[in-house]
Amino acid sequence: MIVRPAKNVLGALRLPGDKSISHRYGMLAAIARGTTRLSNFSTGADCASTLACVRQLGCEVRKNSDGIIEIDGRERLQPPAQSLDCGNSGSTMRMISGILAGQDFACDLHGDESLSRRPMGRIMVPLRQMGAQISAAAGDRPPLHIQGGMLRAIEYTTPIASAQIKSAVLFAGLFAEGETAVEEPHRTRDHSEQALRAFGVELSRSRNRATLRGGQKLQAIQASVPGDISSAAFFLCAAALFPDSNLVIENLLLNPTRASLLDVLTALGARISVINLEDHHGELVGTVKLEHGALKGTTIAGGQSVALIDELPVLAAIAPYTRDGIDIHDAKELRVKESDRIALVASNLRAMGADCEEREDGLRVPGNQKLHGAEIDSGGDHRIAMAFAVAALGADGESTIKGAESARISFPEFFEMLESVAER
Ligand code: S3P
Repeated sequence: MIVRPAKNVLGALRLPGDKSISHRYGMLAAIARGTTRLSNFSTGADCASTLACVRQLGCEVRKNSDGIIEIDGRERLQPPAQSLDCGNSGSTMRMISGILAGQDFACDLHGDESLSRRPMGRIMVPLRQMGAQISAAAGDRPPLHIQGGMLRAIEYTTPIASAQIKSAVLFAGLFAEGETAVEEPHRTRDHSEQALRAFGVELSRSRNRATLRGGQKLQAIQASVPGDISSAAFFLCAAALFPDSNLVIENLLLNPTRASLLDVLTALGARISVINLEDHHGELVGTVKLEHGALKGTTIAGGQSVALIDELPVLAAIAPYTRDGIDIHDAKELRVKESDRIALVASNLRAMGADCEEREDGLRVPGNQKLHGAEIDSGGDHRIAMAFAVAALGADGESTIKGAESARISFPEFFEMLESVAER
C-alpha cells in the first residue's frame, strides 16, 4: 500500500463497532438464554474468529438482511469437532478459555504464527487454580488443550494489568461454586464487567476489584456496538498533525477506561470537544470533534500506559511532529502483542529518518523532527501498519507499507476511510 503525504485531514466519520466489546458480546451471547442481536458488530477478522469459535461450539450465528449479527445462545455448549481456530486474536483465545474452563468437555485452541508466539501462562495460572486442566506448547504458548469441568471460585490478583486475564477469570467465575474476585494492579478496560451486567449478571465493583457469584444465568440482549475508539485513534492523531484540520467522529465509544487518548491529545495541544453523550448498556458513547492546536510534548507512564496500550504505536508514530516529543514508560506489554511493537515502532521511525531511543519498557521519541517517506515493515501487525500510514501523511515523499493488508484484523475499511478524509 502506498501512502502519499497529505495537506489536511477533514470530514466526518462513523466507525465499525469496537473490537473489545464485539468479542465480549459475541462470547456471552453464546452462553445466554435466547437470541442476541448485535448491530454495528466489528468488521475485523479478529471478531470473525470469535464468531467462528462460537459456531464451532454449537451456536447458530447469522447475519440478517440488515447486517445485524444474531447469535442463538445455548444452555450447554457442544464439544467442538475440531480445534478452535482463534486466527490472530489473543483476545479470542484468552477470553474464551475462561468459558471453556467451565464446560464438561475437552477442546483444543490454536492460532496463526503470531498468536502461536504469544504467552498464555497468564490465563493458565488462574484457570488451573479454579480447577481446569490446561496444557500448552513449550513456554506456555498456543496451541492450548483445555479440559473443563466444575470450577471453584478464587480470589485472584493479576500480576499483569490485563483486561484479557481479568475477563478469562470472570467468565470462568460464572461456572464456579462461590464468589470469584479479580483484582488488578492498574485499572484496565471494563467492558467485561459492563457486558456481564448487560446480560443480567450481578457483579460488584470497588476500585480495581470485580466480584461475581457463580451459577448466574445470562439473558440475550439487543445492542448496537459503539464505534471503535482504538480505530478512531488513527484518524484523531492524523487530524492533530495539520493546522487546518477538523474531524468529527460520531457514535464513538467513550468509556473512561478507553478514552485516555482524548486526554493525551488535549495535553499535547489538540482542541477536542465531546457532545451527544449517551449510555448504551453501560458503555458511554458520543460524538468527538478534533481541531488542530500546536502540539507540545508529553510523558506517558504507569496506569496511563496500560489504558493506552493499543494507541501507543500511533502516538509514538506522530511524536516526531510534536515540539517536545513523547516519552513512553511502563509499556513492556507492547513487546508481546501481535508483534514486538516497541522494536517495530523504533525501526520504522528510523527508516523514516527520525531519531528515537528504545528501552525495554517503552521508547522516547524526540520532537521537532522531519520525516521522509520510506518502506515500512508492519511485521504483519495491523496497528503498526495503520500507525505508520498516519506518520506517512506528514512525511516528505510517499511511503510504502508492507503487510498493509493486516489492517483487516481490526479495521478492513481503514485505508479507504483514510483516503476519504485526507486532503492532498
Ligand atoms: C484487550 C486488552 C488488551 C489489548 C487488546 C484488547 C481486550 O490486551 O491490548 O488489544 O479486549 O481486553 P491485554 O489484556 O493483554 O493488555
